[in-house]
Amino acid sequence: MEILILGGTGFLGRHLVEAALKRGHKLTLFNRGETNPHLFPAVEKLHGDRDGQLGALRGRSWDAVVDTCGYLPLVVQESARLLRDSVGHYTFISSVSVYADFSQPGLDEESPTQVLADNTSTDVQEHYGALKALCERVVAEAFPGRSFCVRPGLIVGPHDSSGRFPYWPCRVAEGGEVLAPAHPDRTIQYVDARDLSDWVVQKVESRLTGIYNAVGPQDPLTMAGLLETCKRVTGSNARFTWVSEAFLVAHHVEPWTELPLWLPKEMDGMDAVDNSKAVRMGLAFRPLAETVADTLAWLARERAAGAGKDTVDGGAKAGLCREREAALLQQWHDEQARHSTVSRDSRPGT
Ligand SMILES: NC(=O)c1ccc[n+]([C@@H]2O[C@H](COP(=O)([O-])OP(=O)(O)OC[C@H]3O[C@@H](n4cnc5c(N)ncnc54)[C@H](OP(=O)(O)O)[C@@H]3O)[C@@H](O)[C@H]2O)c1
Repeated sequence: MEILILGGTGFLGRHLVEAALKRGHKLTLFNRGETNPHLFPAVEKLHGDRDGQLGALRGRSWDAVVDTCGYLPLVVQESARLLRDSVGHYTFISSVSVYADFSQPGLDEESPTQVLADNTSTDVQEHYGALKALCERVVAEAFPGRSFCVRPGLIVGPHDSSGRFPYWPCRVAEGGEVLAPAHPDRTIQYVDARDLSDWVVQKVESRLTGIYNAVGPQDPLTMAGLLETCKRVTGSNARFTWVSEAFLVAHHVEPWTELPLWLPKEMDGMDAVDNSKAVRMGLAFRPLAETVADTLAWLARERAAGAGKDTVDGGAKAGLCREREAALLQQWHDEQARHSTVSRDSRPGT
């Protein structure tokens, strides 16, 4: 097939390109030429800012387009309208963040999505999920019966420069006492970018339509399961100290970014999304141990190349710095000690 990819050189995009090339497709990438311009020298590249500069796409046609970098409905509308007569099928990479209420587990594709009070907002930071929901609608309207909407959860694996998932394998590998966020049995969801890409490309080939939650793994994974897998893969001597949610909140630990993969209780549903529709359509998952090992191997290569500053150990991106973690652990132990003294002293007869 001839496939146009809007993006294609960031994190998910590069895996999509690799998956599509592996399956023999002829690709065109459209982007500004700013992110990793050295990648894929043999692939056709068209340059432009999708916000107003789509000229390079005019007069061309493709069998399908995969849109990896749509965040604003008016911008997505431009590409969707421009391509509707020259492209057969539109895949839009959305997010599980579109859902309106994360307090309950089991969100499926029919669950209500966020509604924006001001639908002229362009504040992607503040209204990421609601704007993604509007983008989905714009694509479905421009490509009725020809659009495939993919809602991934946390995307992980090599080239994930967010520092979120990589924080845990790196931190556990270092060993010693590790601050682990409440609580060990809390469910975690993620999808390896390579599994997601393989699936998306195969579904583009069969021109799948509709909306799909693209999260894994197949069987429920807990936070303890994630940390124990990191420990096994790295052979580290890490000891996990599980601190309570109340403690993390009281000490202003920022969920998700400062302490990756930790979300407060009212957001439990974010990590318990129903993936059965995508699994029925063939979404499959490699073992977590493989994702952990490959992420660490990629980070080691980055470090060796001197490029690890932004991506390793959370760095400027995500994750507790070692000093903050040590201070929090000390406070946790102090509070536990005070608490046990108070309960001992308040026991009748003491
Ligand atoms: N990461 C996660 O955990 C996660 C979770 C759920 C959903 N998602 C969704 O997954 C998608 C993939 O994210 P990613 O960061 O991996 O994307 P990506 O497609 O790998 O990287 C962004 C690409 O878009 C291009 N681009 C950015 N702004 C552009 C513009 N104005 N005009 C033209 N091209 C532009 C970039 O190239 P240039 O900079 O050279 O233009 C780059 O090639 C996103 O839609 C995100 O919302 C991500």
